[in-house]
Amino acid sequence: MERVSLLEIYKHPICQKYVSRAGMEHAISTAEYALDFAEEFNTDPDLAVKAAFLHDMGHYTWYRNGKWDYNLYKENDIHAIKGAERAHKLLIRLGEHPVNAKQIALAILLHTDSYLPEGHLQLNPLQKVVAMADKADEEPGGHHHYKKISRESAITRLHALDAKTEEKLSARRTSEGRGQPAS
Ligand SMILES: [Fe+2]
Ligand SMILES: [Fe+2]
Repeated sequence: MERVSLLEIYKHPICQKYVSRAGMEHAISTAEYALDFAEEFNTDPDLAVKAAFLHDMGHYTWYRNGKWDYNLYKENDIHAIKGAERAHKLLIRLGEHPVNAKQIALAILLHTDSYLPEGHLQLNPLQKVVAMADKADEEPGGHHHYKKISRESAITRLHALDAKTEEKLSARRTSEGRGQPAS
């Protein structure tokens, strides 16, 4: 089965609509961080970049009188739940393996605990990587959601990320094939 690439995901209208709404630059930066963290935590680089790229696609805009209302957002936000569902639907549509689509959706569901009453989650390495990558790109006042990126630069960065991800995937397969623990 051929890998569904980040570029294919990027070009899909559902991604354009929802990932752009939450911030395309933030999505790409988070995916770049996730690739590095995936290596550190010895987890699948492909799942990590995809979950990171799509992690905020469940965002909805919470406005009161034309202005972002943070209290309204805090009270009503379920972007991690909505994002997990949207990402899953999009990935399945693009031909992603259902096992992968589920893992990516779960990592998106758990990338933040801000919507949970207690907020103590036991995360697996993939889920940790996505949450850490998101934090790494965070800026005060939610500024990271508003950073601009041109279509050209988004495509260049995603293309580079796809190439690096594929390199790391094949390195993992080689080391697994040799019967060595993946590193
Ligand atoms: Fe988020
Ligand atoms: Fe985020």
